Amino acid sequence: MAKRSISFVCQSCGAITPKWAGRCESCGEWNSIQEERPASGVGGGPAAARSAKGRVFPLVGLSGESKEAPRIVTGVQELDRVTGGGFVKGSAILVGGDPGIGKSTLLIQASAVLANQGHKIVYISGEEAVDQVRLRSERLGLSASPVALAAETSVEDIIATLQSEKNPALVIIDSIQTLWTEQADSPPGTVTQVRASAQALVRYAKKSGCTVVIVGHVTKDGQIAGPRVVEHMVDAVLYFEGDGAHQYRILRGVKNRFGATDEIGVFEMTDMGLKEVANPSSLFLGERNANTPGAAVFAGLEGTRPLLVEIQALVAPSSLGTPRRAVIGWDTARLSMILAVLEARCGVKFSQHDVYLNVAGGLRINEPAADLAVAAALISSLSGVALPMDCVYFGEVSLSGGVRPVAQANSRLKEARKLGFGQAVISGANQKDANNGLDKVRGLDELGELVATVASGS
Ligand code: TYD
Ligand code: MG
Repeated sequence: MAKRSISFVCQSCGAITPKWAGRCESCGEWNSIQEERPASGVGGGPAAARSAKGRVFPLVGLSGESKEAPRIVTGVQELDRVTGGGFVKGSAILVGGDPGIGKSTLLIQASAVLANQGHKIVYISGEEAVDQVRLRSERLGLSASPVALAAETSVEDIIATLQSEKNPALVIIDSIQTLWTEQADSPPGTVTQVRASAQALVRYAKKSGCTVVIVGHVTKDGQIAGPRVVEHMVDAVLYFEGDGAHQYRILRGVKNRFGATDEIGVFEMTDMGLKEVANPSSLFLGERNANTPGAAVFAGLEGTRPLLVEIQALVAPSSLGTPRRAVIGWDTARLSMILAVLEARCGVKFSQHDVYLNVAGGLRINEPAADLAVAAALISSLSGVALPMDCVYFGEVSLSGGVRPVAQANSRLKEARKLGFGQAVISGANQKDANNGLDKVRGLDELGELVATVASGS
């Protein structure tokens, strides 16, 4: 049979099918399948051209001498924290995020800092013309930094240029969707092109010891070839997130072969570019008002970093048969669970009420430790009794109505004290080993005790 030269590739997940279909069978995405020529594409890197005979390589044991990976430390602390202490030499890093979130701004600022330290930095822009990048750096006050700049989209040309420049310390490719390589026939931005280009760049990083930072746009509807296919190839994946309504941006490590992944870096977008936020708790505490019921401060943890966030609840009588439950920044299923536990175990009824829950500042919380703060906010709003201004809450609520301990209670309490809080309501088990300077730490074993605590206004 003749070799197939055309196949159909899902632009969302990269699955290959022999026939076109309206819906990808692999990921369920609609309208994502496009015709591509795989003959020189998917995985058809250099191996295709070489002879079939393999080279014999030595096998080694797990123990043996290994060196700590050398790193390029940017000095931008929020960035270094997320990368695990600086960019590792010879690694490939994907920085993903929605268009317009500030990826280019972050990277041009980091490039300037590194170039000022004497590192050789190359910034390749495939999206913006050289003039545009220059204008932006001028506005940010970075134009004096010795960053080497080019607007280029051919992977082969980029790699040849980097090699002729004696392999810089760090190269930034902005963005992977604009690149194209001769290894694949499909148009730029398709999965095949994105994958082949990323492969070539990752191979270059490993071979030359140059750190390659690849920018990738992610769209919510997955129409543009997502950088998800690139995630498997690179050593670290950082996501830059935030929402248009707020000034702050969070850089989050999703994958990191050289460090922890649960770290975040917080930045604020200003008219002078991104600024580091050393004390993010102040951002997420909202405009606090002593007499408003329904607001509870949660002492959370993002990675190794404690973060205080205000959780706001509004419980209002409902005119609907099925009352509304609306949640922003937390898990809807988790809210239903807390409401059910409050009803079943503590006798607090919400069945005639609409419930709205919001996490201040637009942050998204995933920790179950927020259960207790959510419960406190709900009870406070329902009863109309405001919670004490200087009190933080954390603890996981179980279906039986028990309050369970959470990790790192002491660092949460320490952060609370640093920000001027004097009281905490936590789980009983956490209270036993809590070692802190707060005036009053109340330990609860049952959620019912929280109801009594809130109602008494203490
Ligand atoms: P950009 O870095 O171009 O985003 P991305 O590369 O992720 O697509 O950032 C674009 C947004 O940032 C733009 O909407 C304007 C805003 N911005 C500022 O608010 N202040 C600044 O100093 C800069 C450079 C950008
Ligand atoms: Mg950009």
